[in-house]
Amino acid sequence: MLTGAGVSAESGVPTFRGGGDTEIWTWRGKHITELSSAEMMAADPKLVWEWFDYRRGMLTTIEPNPGHFALARWEHRFEDFALITQNIDDLHRAAGSMNVLELHGNTWRARCLGCASTFEARECPLEESPPRCLACGGPARPDVVLFGELLPDGVFERAEEAAGRADLFFMIGTSGVVFPAAGLPRTAKRKRARVIEVNPEMTDISFIADFTILGKAGEVLPQFLKARG
Ligand code: OAD
Repeated sequence: MLTGAGVSAESGVPTFRGGGDTEIWTWRGKHITELSSAEMMAADPKLVWEWFDYRRGMLTTIEPNPGHFALARWEHRFEDFALITQNIDDLHRAAGSMNVLELHGNTWRARCLGCASTFEARECPLEESPPRCLACGGPARPDVVLFGELLPDGVFERAEEAAGRADLFFMIGTSGVVFPAAGLPRTAKRKRARVIEVNPEMTDISFIADFTILGKAGEVLPQFLKARG
């Protein structure tokens, strides 16, 4: 399973591209790609944390939706199951998914700029910004992939390995324009997996899919559970 922002759209999390009126592009007059960038982190870490606090604040009132819950149940139903997400909102885990490959990190985690330790940072808004590392006291940053950054070591390799051994590969709520995540369905397809897309709209990667189910994740995914009895 590869999920994108669309799987959280019905929970009220804004998507990046597509998903009706929930898209968000600017905050305090700055474009989100500028705010969530490595450059901004170097220039003004306090602003980046304020921006993340704003987004984290929205998430505190948000709950997983039936799409997240369906995926959490699938994990227990299949012997070999991998859930790969591009989302940083932690809603898959909140719904009960245990093993989640978070390609772009997690907004509730911080990473020390000094010793690279990661730790949970659930306080919102943060009392001290940037927060201090629990191990060495150094300043920390959000443990997420910012625009212009590479993915953390190891996670993509594990995702690619899972895609390569898949019989069935779902791409759910993703526009499929951001690499390397968008390469995963291609890997699965090359290795002869059946590829199923769940999205209310056709996307840049619909051509890879054997079937596109035009619909919302929160409505379509629970129906698969019903169909299996
Ligand atoms: P996008 O915002 O690019 O795409 C969201 C997709 O979800 C669109 O194709 C919508 O049609 C679809 N969608 C909307 N509502 C839906 C629903 N209820 N059910 C199913 N699908 C729905 O989100 P991503 O593909 O996740 O990266 O974006 C990928 C990456 O772009 C993000 O992880 C982020 C951004 O740059 C980083 O921040 C590193």
